[in-house]
Amino acid sequence: MVKITYHGHACIELNDGEYDIIFDPFITGNPVTRANPEDMKPTAILISHGHGDHLGDAIDISKRTGALIIAPFELADFCQKNGAVNVHPMHIGGSYSFNFGKVKLTQALHGSAFVTPDGTHYTGNPCGFIVNFGGKCFYFAGDTGLFGDMKTIGENNDIDIAFLPIGDNFTMGPEDAIKASKLLQAKTVIPIHYNTWPIIEQNPYDFQNRLKEIGIESIVIPFNNSIEV
Ligand code: NI
Ligand code: MN
Repeated sequence: MVKITYHGHACIELNDGEYDIIFDPFITGNPVTRANPEDMKPTAILISHGHGDHLGDAIDISKRTGALIIAPFELADFCQKNGAVNVHPMHIGGSYSFNFGKVKLTQALHGSAFVTPDGTHYTGNPCGFIVNFGGKCFYFAGDTGLFGDMKTIGENNDIDIAFLPIGDNFTMGPEDAIKASKLLQAKTVIPIHYNTWPIIEQNPYDFQNRLKEIGIESIVIPFNNSIEV
């Protein structure tokens, strides 16, 4: 069994009883989460790109716990230069077997930089992740627009769970996320990256119902809740 916790926005935590991995740990400043980064003790932190709402608390958690940061090369380098103690750089198309499971980086159509009032720090290309964890195959799309090679990702991987953004404006909206769901052929789709702020307001239950009409299963995990798969 894998426990999936949705901390809101794009922050997903997977726990198989032995290992714990967290995607995009945006906790501090996240208006919808009740999580406390001080309580997090992940085995690994997977970061899809350098935007503040994804890099989030990753470096602080890594400094405190020694958790391994897995990210595209330039972002991993940025994390290391900013104090992360344990990083594993990868890049799109590459895979690596870790103690907790196998990770492969996929493309994502988006930007990637860490933007501060002092300037913009380039952090490479954004990515998505295919992760084999706890006997299941997960696809975390990251922030992305729809792209046709999702079909290939679906053909090359027997995806159990796909985490897809539906917020629109910065990423796919529901319409394109439905098209993505068809291309990926995932057994279950879980919407993310919505309702953090008004600009990405969506009704995830409408999305779920529209997928149901075309025979695709979807689970809406309310913020700060967990499910087991
Ligand atoms: Ni972004
Ligand atoms: Mn984002």
